[in-house]
Order: sequence, then structure tokens, then C-alpha cells
Amino acid sequence: MNIWQTLPHGFTVLAPMEGVTDIVFRSVIEKAGAPDLFFTEFTNVSSFASEKGRHDALERLELKAEKSTPGTSKSDRAQKATPVIAQIWGKNPAHFAEISSALETMGFAGLDINMGCPDRHVNKAGGGAAMIKTPELAIECIKAAKSATNLPVSVKTRLGFTYIDEYKTWLPLLLEQNLAALTVHLRTRKEMSKVSAHYELIPEIIKLRDKISPETKLIINGDIKDLRSARELSEKYPGIDGFMIGRGVFGNPFCFNPDYLDKTPTPEELRELLIFHLNLFDKRAEELEKRGSRYPYEPLKHFFKIYINNFPGASELRAKLMECKNTTEVRAVLAENPQKATR
Ligand SMILES: Cc1cc2nc3c(=O)[nH]c(=O)nc-3n(C[C@H](O)[C@H](O)[C@H](O)COP(=O)(O)O)c2cc1C
Repeated sequence: MNIWQTLPHGFTVLAPMEGVTDIVFRSVIEKAGAPDLFFTEFTNVSSFASEKGRHDALERLELKAEKSTPGTSKSDRAQKATPVIAQIWGKNPAHFAEISSALETMGFAGLDINMGCPDRHVNKAGGGAAMIKTPELAIECIKAAKSATNLPVSVKTRLGFTYIDEYKTWLPLLLEQNLAALTVHLRTRKEMSKVSAHYELIPEIIKLRDKISPETKLIINGDIKDLRSARELSEKYPGIDGFMIGRGVFGNPFCFNPDYLDKTPTPEELRELLIFHLNLFDKRAEELEKRGSRYPYEPLKHFFKIYINNFPGASELRAKLMECKNTTEVRAVLAENPQKATR
């Protein structure tokens, strides 16, 4: 039995997000209220296959180190925490095989191939959504990954590259590959995230899955805000197995937590979560520094708006935090402004 088969009907997934869903942020969401499944940020298969890129790729693919207990095997440890799917991208079948084989021993519950990323550089390199335009190569990559690992292989994609109707040929092709799961971001590459997700196509997509590959778990993605929205969609479309939430966590990091179905987190709760994030950040930075690597501070600033908003004085406090040059300064600003965060 693979991980996808053990998830409850209507399961939730934190979407893979480059620069966001790394080992630290996944732990933050685990603390706030975990989904049923995590995805990593995507890792390039050819970087992993190269001597130069291997180190960075491995760093991106680290699982929670802090949960490890001496004496337990890696697979035991991975089972206790929320399972994590490693997402990969690229266009070289041999490199897909190489990383897929390596991932098997790294504690992941499965691997997912990104065939939906709209980033220009990724597409220029033939990966992400560009795969929709090279279906034969896409299939070759899926086959290469599947043949090299016992992990369940899934794909995350979009409706099409340019036109919505492309889903009518593209999704069947993917479903014919006997995937463990298929996530459909309900937009085309051309639409980026600028239009509403095409929920109206859900019934058609369910029909395709039921006809071609009923065993494949079907996950939808796009504009799902929180657990409440996921449950509403699940009631409306019982043929969907799971719901993936991306940007919803920026609006509410407690969005997977059933205790928050009818309430939003208080400024105090968000502030506490920020401090938890800062602590994990410091721990990770220290860990990487010991290994001669870096966990840069600047990207941490993008997260402040998640935690400091929706109370009087929030934007002033956030502006002060944005000027901080390290976590010590952030803590000092927070300590100087306790009332601002609790009003
Ligand atoms: C900052 C950011 C980074 C992303 N990185 C990835 C990625 O690495 N892999 C991927 O498949 N999708 C990536 N995505 C797309 C999301 O997984 C998701 O498909 C998209 O945000 C739509 O879902 P949402 O409306 O719930 O946010 C990214 C999205 C954002 C906003």
C-alpha cells in the first residue's frame, strides 16, 4: 500500500512552493495545524545529477532532522511526522531515473513530477509546464522515474499550456501512465494565476480519471483558501480525492487546522508562530553554517506579512521588521512593540 492509498477521502495537501515550503516552513505549518501531506519545493533533476549541483539539491531535500530519535530507523521517523512528497523537475529521463532511485532511501513518501510551473527559466529549460508541449518526452520522464524507484510517482500539472481545451488530450495521456496521483492546477500556463481557477471543469476531469485510471488519486488545486473551502468542494465534488492549498497559507497559516474552521487566529497566536519560525530559522542557519553552507536571512522577510497583519498598527510594525538585518533585531523590535501585536 502506498501513501496515497492511506489518506482519508478529501485529504489536504500543502502545495509545493519554491522559496516557501522548505524544511523550516513545513515545520511552522505542522505546528499551526498540519495538512495530510506536504510537498517539498521542486528540485531540478539535472542539478542533482551534476557534481556542482548535488550539494544544494540534497540540502533542499532534507527532511525534518529534529524529529529523529537515536535507535529508530529513518522510515519509522518519517512515518511519525506528516509524510512528505519530494517534487522534482527537469527534462532528462536519465537524470529523472538517477534522482528517483536516490529518493527511495531518503525518507520520502513519494515523488512528484512538476509539469505545471510557468516560470520562464524553467520552461526555457524544457521543464515544468513546457512538458505539456513535449508529451512524448514527458512520458519518457515519467517512465524513467517509475522504473528507477519503488516510491509512488505522481504528477502536478495545469490544464494546458495555452488553451484550456488542451486538458482533453493532455490529462488522458498522463492518466494512461498509471500514476499514483495526479494534481491538476485548474488553469493554463498562459493564465498564470491571473484568472479564477476553472472549477467548472471538475466534473469532466473526474470523468476522465474514472474512465482511464480509477486507481489514480485526483487532487485539485487553485484558489482553495482553507480547510472549510476544501470541505465544501469535497461535498460538491465527491469524486475528488484531495485538495491542495498554496497561497491560502499566506492569508492564514492555520488554514489546515480543524480548530480554526470557524475562527481566524488572533494576533497573539500569529505572533507566537512568528517567534517559532524565527527559532527554527536560527537553528537551521546554525546547522548549515556548521556544514560550511548558508541559510540566508533576506528571504525570511517575505514571511513577516503572514504573521503581522489585521490589527491596528500592523503595517507600522511590519515596516520596522522589514528594516531588521537579522533575527536578533527582529526579536528586539517585537519586544519593544508588545502592545502593537496584542491589541
Ligand atoms: C511562491 C510560489 C512558489 C511556487 N513554487 C512551486 C513549485 O515549486 N512547484 C509547483 O508545482 N508549484 C509551485 N507553485 C504553484 C503552487 O503549488 C500552486 O499550484 C499555485 O499557487 C495555485 O494554488 P493556490 O491558488 O492554492 O495558491 C508555486 C506558487 C507560489 C505562489
